[in-house]
Amino acid sequence: MTIPKTFHIKSFGCQMNVYDGARMAELLESEGMAAAQSGEADLVVLNTCHIRERAAEKVYSDIGRLKRDDGSRPMIAVAGCVAQAEGAEIPRRAPSVDIVVGPQAYHRLPELIAEAGGGGRGLDMALAAETKFGALPPRRRQGPSAFLTVQEGCDKFCTYCVVPYTRGAEISRGWSAIVDEAKALIDMGAREITLLGQNVNAWRGEDPAGRAQGLDGLIRALDVLPGLERIRYTTSHPADMTDGLIEAHRDVAKLMPFLHLPVQSGNDRILKAMNRSHSNASYRAIIDRARDARPDIAISGDFIVGFPGESDAEFEDTLKIIEAVNYAQAYSFKYSPRPGTPAAAMDEQVAPTLMDERLQRLQALIERQQYAFNQASVGLRTQILIERQGRKPGQKLGKSPWLQSVHVTTEAPIGAIVDIEIASAGPHSLGGAELIQAAA
Ligand code: 5AD
Ligand code: SF4
Repeated sequence: MTIPKTFHIKSFGCQMNVYDGARMAELLESEGMAAAQSGEADLVVLNTCHIRERAAEKVYSDIGRLKRDDGSRPMIAVAGCVAQAEGAEIPRRAPSVDIVVGPQAYHRLPELIAEAGGGGRGLDMALAAETKFGALPPRRRQGPSAFLTVQEGCDKFCTYCVVPYTRGAEISRGWSAIVDEAKALIDMGAREITLLGQNVNAWRGEDPAGRAQGLDGLIRALDVLPGLERIRYTTSHPADMTDGLIEAHRDVAKLMPFLHLPVQSGNDRILKAMNRSHSNASYRAIIDRARDARPDIAISGDFIVGFPGESDAEFEDTLKIIEAVNYAQAYSFKYSPRPGTPAAAMDEQVAPTLMDERLQRLQALIERQQYAFNQASVGLRTQILIERQGRKPGQKLGKSPWLQSVHVTTEAPIGAIVDIEIASAGPHSLGGAELIQAAA
């Protein structure tokens, strides 16, 4: 197989995979390769997700589809969490796979490509993240809203979750590496930075003066960077929601009023069986503190229905906590047994039809709350960050501080922050009218 000149990266799953996909693209470009459409690329990277369902099965069917009409195929790399979890099993089942590279080893892609080009197979499932970041080329232009991974891995071991196995132990990137990357992103036009981590609020580090810092310290350091207008972070764990981070929502104007804080279930017995280290009451207390600090903060969550043994009454507790918290948006999933996790071996797996029913009820409730949240925004004067062109001529799509998508007709370029009045609300987006400032 010849060394590829063009590549295509397909990322599945979470925002951290989107970030990894962007960094892989930068790496391959720095090696002289050019991005191409999937049908035309010499190298296709499937950057996979293992969190739910038969993600691995999907990877195998995607691999099959990469064969071209003339019977040839591109060089194929499987990256991401399925690569980490399945490793050498992947080429055993799908011999056309040339490269398997885990989420902490993709800085070695050029060497693995050379090995595959030489007729070998490139495999790397090492789990040492700090090496990776140090070995990657500088950031390239990413658009007005950029992701920045500051923390990886997870030590929480929720009993349903594969992440501690696929992404490894919690590690925090160093302070100056993060601040330097933020500055580079801002120089290239980023006006919003979303700090990413599987447990982003577990980030711990030292500032240049040697003082111990948490995520709030990092947010305050980014706050003073000229050119940066908005800061976000995701995903957080309730156990790491410190007073300092909550106070940052009160004090740091650039920190957007949005908190994605998964609760998973509203029932204490299920939360315990999930090994969630928080209760219904302790979660609600955090939400109350966040709202005291920043009354307009929008709350987002993750929910799992049908965890093993979940009774009707226990599921009702999840609906009750949703009613009580009142979410601006949320993600919800049917429990999916993941190989190797404790919950997969538990008795009393819930019947799929019952899970479907519960998911529908939960999603209908979230949908109502999200629509109500959007409707309550009508008439507000606020700002949006223009992220891209809309579908209609002259129309642009921006994001409100509360992460709502807003359509607006404006001459303002992508990357501009525009004063608007929210004019209309749908269940999933808003319409806005630009407020033109009178010339002074
Ligand atoms: N089944 C269903 N949902 C899951 N999640 C994680 N693992 C599983 C699983 N095995 C959900 C959780 C988590 C989100 C990223 O994915 O809600 O917060
Ligand atoms: Fe998975 Fe729990 Fe860690 Fe989140 S906190 S990544 S759900 S183990």
